[in-house]
Amino acid sequence: MDDARRGGWASRFGFIMAAAGSAVGLGNIWKFPYVTGAHGGGAFLAIYLVCVFGFGLALVMAELVMGRMSRRNPVGAFKRLAGSAWPAAGGLGVVTAVVILSFYIVVAGWAIAYLVYALDGALSATDADALNALFRRLTGAPVAPLLYAAAFMLATAVVVARGIAGGIERMSKLFMPLLFGILVLLVLRAVTLPGAGEGLAFFLRPDWSSVDIGTVSAALGQAFFSLSLGLGGLITYGSYMSPRQNLGRDALAVVLLDTVVAVLAGLMVLPAMMAAGMTPAEGGPGTTFKVLPAVFAAMPAGRLFSIGFFLLLTLAALTSSVSLLEPVVSYLVDERGLKRTTASALGSLVCFALAVPVSLSFGVWHEVTFAGLTLFGLMDFFASHLSLPIGSLLTAICLGWVVGRPALDELASRGQPVAAWAPVWLFFIRFIAPFAIAWILIQGLIPG
Ligand code: PFF
Repeated sequence: MDDARRGGWASRFGFIMAAAGSAVGLGNIWKFPYVTGAHGGGAFLAIYLVCVFGFGLALVMAELVMGRMSRRNPVGAFKRLAGSAWPAAGGLGVVTAVVILSFYIVVAGWAIAYLVYALDGALSATDADALNALFRRLTGAPVAPLLYAAAFMLATAVVVARGIAGGIERMSKLFMPLLFGILVLLVLRAVTLPGAGEGLAFFLRPDWSSVDIGTVSAALGQAFFSLSLGLGGLITYGSYMSPRQNLGRDALAVVLLDTVVAVLAGLMVLPAMMAAGMTPAEGGPGTTFKVLPAVFAAMPAGRLFSIGFFLLLTLAALTSSVSLLEPVVSYLVDERGLKRTTASALGSLVCFALAVPVSLSFGVWHEVTFAGLTLFGLMDFFASHLSLPIGSLLTAICLGWVVGRPALDELASRGQPVAAWAPVWLFFIRFIAPFAIAWILIQGLIPG
């Protein structure tokens, strides 16, 4: 498809909301609290922040630059900018997007289920055992979670099929500010719960004694997952950016928003979890779902809050899932000549087919493990610990070494001189990011 007909963002605010919508999602509200809990709290948070501002920001800019320079999907972008040996790097991204989507829609389906429970008034229990049982009953069931996942996949496909400005941008502009508002209210409640102090200390006070390379590798993977890095989602979003937009400043806005929401989610979930007597290390993927209903139930207008929260969790997941489907769809449209609607339908069907075994791996197939991991665990490991870091490594090498200096001009908005800090960014993309990521990747894989 030619560049002019691909469409684009209608406004700068729209782009920021869509890109922040991509970044802010289940990764922040569902995953960040339990991964932080599993890796010791404050020290993990500190390493996470170093990863976000040390690598994440520069790489977000790198992906957006690649997209805006090439006006292509990830596969096409690598091909246009670096030649015929590179499209495999984009191909890995497209495959990774499918893998992540296939577990993302399962968890998003849980959010819809909890929304239904909240509407029904079925979330009134405050004791941990009852909430545990509820979560297990839902996720262990063979059919119901898949119906919710299918509904969510369908919604994602419909938005993506409607295109960039009319679908993704319109939705994000509406939902993101709402999400932010409700999160702030919930945090205020969670941190003032009796017994919250212990959780706050756990989250905010680093205890370095438990840190090892596994912690660093998990923090890096979480940072990439949360910032939507490493699979070309942001290459695709960058490809719809206006040349007049100040790319560096907008990238910073997206990274800040994402980080603030992750920290807010940590402040919301970890204190509530410890106030309820649960051990952070053992929370696992059910944490947010098991902990927050108790907070709501004990609040005035709690039912309203729980409805609002699970609605917004679903919507936050949706503004992210569209950015996972979009690279797949733009690949099929740009490179394979499919129509947007056909491509959306095809991509969604494949992801849903893969979601079936993932969903069952929380229930009847729980015992089926690979190297000690359930299928969900395996896919999550593949994405966060392998594929996203490898994708980011290849992006840094391609942009830093193959594209090189022209990337600096692209970073400047049209007609503007290259900013004084931009060469520092290029130096970082060339020399620091590739070596650091490669080192963490290799160390993280050596069995300890
Ligand atoms: N950043 C999203 C989240 O935190 O939920 C997940 C995600 C979206 C990862 C898009 C990768 C991506 F390309």
